[in-house]
Amino acid sequence: AADMGADLEKVLITEEEIQARLAELATEIWENYAGEPFLLVGILKGAVLVMADLMRAIPGSVPMDWMAVSSYGSGTKSSGVVRILKDLDTDITGRHVVIVEDIIDSGLTLSWIRANLESRGPKSVEICTLLRKPDAAKVAIDCRWVGFDIPNDFVVGYGLDFAEAYRNLRVVGTLAPHVYS
Ligand code: PRP
Ligand code: MN
Ligand code: MG
Repeated sequence: AADMGADLEKVLITEEEIQARLAELATEIWENYAGEPFLLVGILKGAVLVMADLMRAIPGSVPMDWMAVSSYGSGTKSSGVVRILKDLDTDITGRHVVIVEDIIDSGLTLSWIRANLESRGPKSVEICTLLRKPDAAKVAIDCRWVGFDIPNDFVVGYGLDFAEAYRNLRVVGTLAPHVYS
């Protein structure tokens, strides 16, 4: 689709709202570690845009690393199957880690990733997610920093895809029904 905006049913969160909230979260994260070093770990690919804007809103130098796991495939439902496609380059033993995600849907992906990172002996592991769907939760996740709680509808944009499309939308919105059929 050439016109991504026409495929949207509704804009849930505007560009300005996303940036304002990420700036708040960046300050909270920075103040939480009070000068102690921490590592941002983004989960490819959805978290790319959150990472880019969140880390630039942090008022000091902070390193990043990335993991890629499989969970959704190209569909719209969570399979619950998680496997590492790309592991961290970094040894996180004894380090503070902040996982950066675009969305917690069922929670299955992050619950698995968090347990996996905890097993490596970090000093702490916290989670920062732009979006969370409380009504879709299949497992409870202790998430320290949440941008927005949203309804249990399929959303795209700002990193979130439908079959790899729409990640480059500047807003988060729901897809029009004609896109699915
Ligand atoms: C999406 C999203 C989260 C995960 C959330 O990633 O970016 O990582 O699903 O789902 P869950 O809470 O139900 O586990 P996806 O697997 O689609 O990969 P992507 O980031 O490359 O789009
Ligand atoms: Mn993802
Ligand atoms: Mg996806």
